[in-house]
Amino acid sequence: MNIRPMQESDLSTLVTIEQSITPFPWTLGNFADSLVAGHSAWVGYQYGEIVGYAVMSIVAEEAELLNIGIDPECQRCGRGIELMVHLLQIAKENGVGRMFLEVRRSNISARAFYDQFYFNEVGLRRDYYVTHKNCEDAIVMARNL
Ligand SMILES: CC(C)(COP(=O)(O)OP(=O)(O)OC[C@H]1O[C@@H](n2cnc3c(N)ncnc32)[C@H](O)[C@@H]1OP(=O)(O)O)[C@@H](O)C(=O)NCCC(=O)NCCS
Repeated sequence: MNIRPMQESDLSTLVTIEQSITPFPWTLGNFADSLVAGHSAWVGYQYGEIVGYAVMSIVAEEAELLNIGIDPECQRCGRGIELMVHLLQIAKENGVGRMFLEVRRSNISARAFYDQFYFNEVGLRRDYYVTHKNCEDAIVMARNL
């Protein structure tokens, strides 16, 4: 997989992937806002096809992972690891000392994924994710770089 900066022309593909992998998908507007905000936004691709993406904000010495996703057909093949290694590298190059993220309590695969990168639980946002049917806590995780 190769990794390059996210572009506006990628966004409809990203939304299609996003809608297939999470009950709380970012909209095209969310991705577009990230580009406008100048977030560190990347896509992973192979054979010309986008297979994953990641968005991170960096403010002073802190980074926040805002989104990461891998096409369902490409999951569990190490693509997520490649994107996360890339983000950590970019964060380090920008002088980041600590990275944060939020994950749904029931998102067991993502939590196992973040465990691989030594993120620790540092907080809880109760009922952070809300749908018309239910609500769910967000676990706040962090690691030093
Ligand atoms: C979380 C996500 C980005 C991981 O990407 P991925 O490419 O599938 O994961 P990788 O193949 O790089 O996995 C790396 C490690 O993470 C853990 N992991 C990943 N998916 C897992 C799963 N479904 N079950 C258990 N552990 C899992 C494993 O430890 C895995 O290593 P292993 O395969 O050697 O056991 C991907 O599953 C995804 O897009 N999920 C839906 C979107 C999402 O939840 N994003 C995070 C929002 S907070």
